[in-house]
Amino acid sequence: TRVAVIGGGQNCEHDVSLASAASVAGALDPAAYDVVPITIGRDGTWRDRGLRPIGLCGAAQVLRGCDVAFPVVHGPRGEDGALAALCELAGIAYVGSGVRPGAIAMDKWTTKLVAAAVGIATAPGRLVTAATAGHERWTHPVVVKPVAAGSSLGVSLVTEPGLLRPALEEALALDDRVLVEDVVAGREIDVAVLRRTDGSLFVPPALEIVADGVFDHEAKYGGHADFRVPARLEGVEAKALKEAALAVYDALGCSGVARVDFFLTEDGPVLNEVNTVPGMTEHSQVPRMFAAAGMSYPELLDELVRGAHR
Ligand code: DAL
Ligand code: MG
Repeated sequence: TRVAVIGGGQNCEHDVSLASAASVAGALDPAAYDVVPITIGRDGTWRDRGLRPIGLCGAAQVLRGCDVAFPVVHGPRGEDGALAALCELAGIAYVGSGVRPGAIAMDKWTTKLVAAAVGIATAPGRLVTAATAGHERWTHPVVVKPVAAGSSLGVSLVTEPGLLRPALEEALALDDRVLVEDVVAGREIDVAVLRRTDGSLFVPPALEIVADGVFDHEAKYGGHADFRVPARLEGVEAKALKEAALAVYDALGCSGVARVDFFLTEDGPVLNEVNTVPGMTEHSQVPRMFAAAGMSYPELLDELVRGAHR
């Protein structure tokens, strides 16, 4: 089976995507899979295995010569459904969520609306744009974040009035829509959901992120965050998290694996975000959760490729 592993991408998660794609390409069983790596540069240039520019048409040609595409591009123009759309148009089976779940999950505001509709709590918040940012006034501590970015870039915890303006500007530099949310006090718990090849949904043990303050880009990739898997949870907590993750995954219509991130508060789980192309290095949260369920990284990748859809 020829698998096109697509990495890189045109956003601030480029390097993270390259790491995920390299891990995926390296761990797909060589006895079963012939890996065809494709890289999208920050400037949008598509490149083949030898890093030769192949152009978008060339890329479509390469994809058509493969059996399955495995897009591992986080963030906008990748995870947001753009690559799923390309695969659909090229007529190639692909791993992971389709166009609509990708697009909706990338948009934290729309995700909030969907979550609310299926009874899952999210942080109380409002949408701010460049046109309305001038009206924002400090009242209490908030988290400011771009509606669609990733890897916590442009996210600020605003704890005093003077920090609100710079936080809004930083977030608006990454997206033209920004969320201003109440700070949620709770433990950060990630839950993975996998649609297995038989159509059933599987949820491995949850993972807790043990970090000081906001789990920001530095903590994520500077090596300061600590993962605890399985997370230490009461039975009722584990059940509530699992049910909420399943409800959101199902409502969005996801495929493949998604990582649903929560804050676990005294009032139960509060949804933070859904990642339809979660970090996929061997040491990322998702592979570690499946390892805790007894599914190795190559087994998880195998399951994902076999579950590829058109
Ligand atoms: N957006 C990063 C890659 C993650 O959620 O894992
Ligand atoms: Mg994310």
